[in-house]
Amino acid sequence: MSESMAGLKRSHYCGEIDETLLDREVVIMGWVQHRRDHGGLVFIDLRDRSGLVQTVFNPQEDPATHEKSHDVRAEYVLALVGRVRRRPDDMVNPKLPTGTVEVLIRELRVLNQAQTPPFLVEDHADVNEMVRLRYRYLDLRRPQVMRNFVLRHQVARLTRDYFADLGFLEVETPVLTKSTPEGARDYLVPSRLSHGSFFALPQSPQLFKQLLMMGGLDRYCQIVKCFRDEDLRADRQPEFTQVDLEMSFVSQEEIMDVLEGYVSLVFEKTMGLALERPFPRLSYDQAMARYGIDRPDLRFGLEMVDVGTLLEASKAQVFREALSSNGCVRAILAPGAGRFSRKQLDDLVALAVSLGAKGLAWLRLTPDGLQGPLAKFLEEGEKTGLIGTLGAQVGDVVFFGADSPEMVSHVLGQIRLRLAEELGLVKPGQYALSWVTDFPMFEFDPQSKRWEAKHHPFTSPRDEDLDLLETSPGMVRALAYDLVLNGSEIGGGSIRIHRPDVQARVFRALGLEAEQIREKFGFFVEALAFGTPPHGGCAFGLDRLVMILAGASSLRDVIAFPKTQKASCPLTEAPSSVADRQLLELGLARDRSGEAQAGPGATGQGERP
Ligand code: AMO
Ligand code: AMP
Repeated sequence: MSESMAGLKRSHYCGEIDETLLDREVVIMGWVQHRRDHGGLVFIDLRDRSGLVQTVFNPQEDPATHEKSHDVRAEYVLALVGRVRRRPDDMVNPKLPTGTVEVLIRELRVLNQAQTPPFLVEDHADVNEMVRLRYRYLDLRRPQVMRNFVLRHQVARLTRDYFADLGFLEVETPVLTKSTPEGARDYLVPSRLSHGSFFALPQSPQLFKQLLMMGGLDRYCQIVKCFRDEDLRADRQPEFTQVDLEMSFVSQEEIMDVLEGYVSLVFEKTMGLALERPFPRLSYDQAMARYGIDRPDLRFGLEMVDVGTLLEASKAQVFREALSSNGCVRAILAPGAGRFSRKQLDDLVALAVSLGAKGLAWLRLTPDGLQGPLAKFLEEGEKTGLIGTLGAQVGDVVFFGADSPEMVSHVLGQIRLRLAEELGLVKPGQYALSWVTDFPMFEFDPQSKRWEAKHHPFTSPRDEDLDLLETSPGMVRALAYDLVLNGSEIGGGSIRIHRPDVQARVFRALGLEAEQIREKFGFFVEALAFGTPPHGGCAFGLDRLVMILAGASSLRDVIAFPKTQKASCPLTEAPSSVADRQLLELGLARDRSGEAQAGPGATGQGERP
């Protein structure tokens, strides 16, 4: 039986009840976390968005209310009226912010009943994620999950305020639009009114924000949904949110400064942490050479060191082969890894091999010198050279990659991350930000045998590299920058091309024919010719930023209704099939006669103005 809340007005959130309210009467509303019967007394923990408070039902206080409290079950929705009092000393719960008080109840109303929930709504309940997502509305009631959304809201609000204060205008860009390539597949929406034509959901508002700069808006910012049909991982969702911005008449330095201010503000207001500015900067080449990856995790060292010159004349075949075929030999010193078990070392080798390496040589520094599979092939001079260059101490292990520079980066980059884990170098609550700049403009795709844009085709090459566009596209560096937090790319942007002739040369370098350019970006190329200001910008992955701030391990923890690995929603069961009639209307199916597809007029709505 449900009762009305008429005549009652909530006075406090559960989590607000504390000693400042002693002896005051409060009205609280929320969900039943637990009910415990202790002889005569009944205790109900009531939960709402703010937290939990213990309530007490005493037969001497109000026998009828006490009686009623026996019928209450988990997740029932209650309104409770009572008086705040101090808990007896031996009942204080120091883990709970409201743990020194309780509310002695005189009135209980059951506002709604609940079926037995499929899992306990509490932080430490061990529940399969599919079940959590299937019943996401119950999962959201868990305090930890709730906290993530409060944090997300704070970040969104800070974002709006920060950029508005700097003169950025919030403008909404279309969702039903034309393909805006960012390197993923498009989500397509069929047009009912033009059969065979499709809208693409934006992978980002890139072209529109550039058009806004052409439109003279000068500074734009939007918290915006983007859609990318790509293979999903813990840090990728098909539908995600960007903090997207663009500025006119600015340099890369000015943009980076505005963005550092933004990230610093978010850290200060949400974590109480003051970040040191300017953030460390690395060129793409430096990042690849030292960390093997373009989004280095700088919470720990474990840098790669080129030891090729030390091993030039080495008798070890592994090194000789790599060096004589334009390859390189790089090493990572892992302090204290001498304690690794044989299995740990074998697993590291197996990881390297699974990433495409031919092996992973290692040497352990013991009181008797370097030991390991290759030790016997190394000359004394080479060994002392390695120890000196790397600064190795007894108890350390050196890991080697010998191959093409790309393969060594790829493999040692991952080995470095695994080593940091195994050595316990990553502590919670540690944050390392950095910029990676000077990305290559193009990447060669061996499958299509074509150059592809590394960022996107609207990114400006560096002025001094313009002449390489036709001769050596692989050497052209872009005015592009990524912001990296703890090894995760949380933002990326660039100075854009504003000259039609340069845009045409970049399209040509990408192997696009005039007809393809006209069809895909004709409107944009046309707009460039009408007085485009120099401009640039960036987009942050809001979900990724919040995920890291929340200490979560998956984007699903900070997205209210996320998709699974298979890009589906267990709650709504989207995507789902649609009625044949809809397919006919959209021109995606033929009617039973197999003849003409139903046109827009068939629904009787096509002619409406
Ligand atoms: P980019 O493609 O680098 O740049 O995207 C910007 C940021 O968005 C986040 N992100 C994602 N987050 C969750 N799930 C995904 N599938 C996903 N894909 C990207 C990342 C990334 O850094 N238009 C350009 C920006 C610009 O040049 O201004 C763009 O979209 O954190
Ligand atoms: P092998 O000569 O193949 O028996 O390898 C000797 C040692 O070098 C083993 O520890 C291998 O794991 C390692 N190794 C082999 N190839 C490479 C390579 N390309 N880079 C680094 N280590 C390698």
